[in-house]
Amino acid sequence: MPILTFAVETSCDETSVAILSDYNVLSNIISSQYFHSEYGGIVPELASRAHIKAIDKIVSSAFEKSGIKNNDINLVAATKGPGLIGSLLVGYNYAKAFSIVLNIPFIGINHIESHLFSCFIGQDEIEFPFIALVVSGGHTILFLVEGYTNYKVLGATQDDAAGEAFDKVAKMLGLEYPGGPVIDKLAKDGDENYHIFPSANLKDKIYDFSFSGVKTSVLYFLKKNFGNERANLPLNDICASFQKAVVSSLVEKTMIAVKGFKIKTIAVSGGVSANSRLRKEFIKFEKDGFKIQFPEKIYSTDNAAMIGYYGYLKYKHSTNINLESELLDHAFARFEY
Ligand code: KG4
Ligand code: ZN
Repeated sequence: MPILTFAVETSCDETSVAILSDYNVLSNIISSQYFHSEYGGIVPELASRAHIKAIDKIVSSAFEKSGIKNNDINLVAATKGPGLIGSLLVGYNYAKAFSIVLNIPFIGINHIESHLFSCFIGQDEIEFPFIALVVSGGHTILFLVEGYTNYKVLGATQDDAAGEAFDKVAKMLGLEYPGGPVIDKLAKDGDENYHIFPSANLKDKIYDFSFSGVKTSVLYFLKKNFGNERANLPLNDICASFQKAVVSSLVEKTMIAVKGFKIKTIAVSGGVSANSRLRKEFIKFEKDGFKIQFPEKIYSTDNAAMIGYYGYLKYKHSTNINLESELLDHAFARFEY
């Protein structure tokens, strides 16, 4: 009999619930809180209230779509961090209560680890080792992954995350939140060589990233050339040039790691992995014999399917997982690196 997993993700501004049968996603419902764009960024208190309001409905839709009944679930997984504490509490407590009522195992899942494995959703076998680049709104981390629960952090951003840089630059340009998808779209019709925005190389820290410099260089460029005027900016060209700087740095550092460790598989995940230019640049390396793994676009940004998939992988492959110890007070441990 397959294991049926009920998974919940509420770490930020998406309320998401998924039902999986072993490795396969039966349903994955995502409700995004678009109202934050009005404020130019996420308002934590409003986010947690919106999760409370949405969650019952999302759970019902996920069950309805999957054709599974509550009582048939065998395993529960929920995001335990990192994320906004008020938002995490909603989904985590909901899922924990669900597992207590049904008296079934519960696993708290680290959001970043679940992104890392989201490239493989649906697969029952994963080939190790691989280099993983997780690029989200809050994190930019390069990993060497050698097993389901065995990985090493090689490097990370020293300041802004890549997604954060997209969001902040979008704000400077008067674009809506989240900035990544908007910049991606505008950049498609822009000249990426319009202006060279430098991105830090951090020569002595070969696997680390820095994106606050490129963000500031966009700010200075705007001030110098357009003052405070935001109408009639050459948005397409600025977006394309900025995107090129961020993507080049992400690709360059990842390729240094891949070559340094003589690894042939690269897995790129997290919200920024939806970026079309990033995908295109990495895929170019396939002709050199590299295997490039991206999540399906729907699994790039936050979703509960990745929580359920990694929950099931952990349940199946961890030898030292103690389900009873996954208590609420462990829920908000920050991701250490
Ligand atoms: O993984 P995610 O949904 O949430 C976090 O865990 O942070 O990532 C959200 C981030 C946001 O910063 C958003 O602007 C960025 O992913 N993003 C993109 C694209 N789609 C989402 N960045 C660049 N290009 C995109 N197409
Ligand atoms: Zn995320």
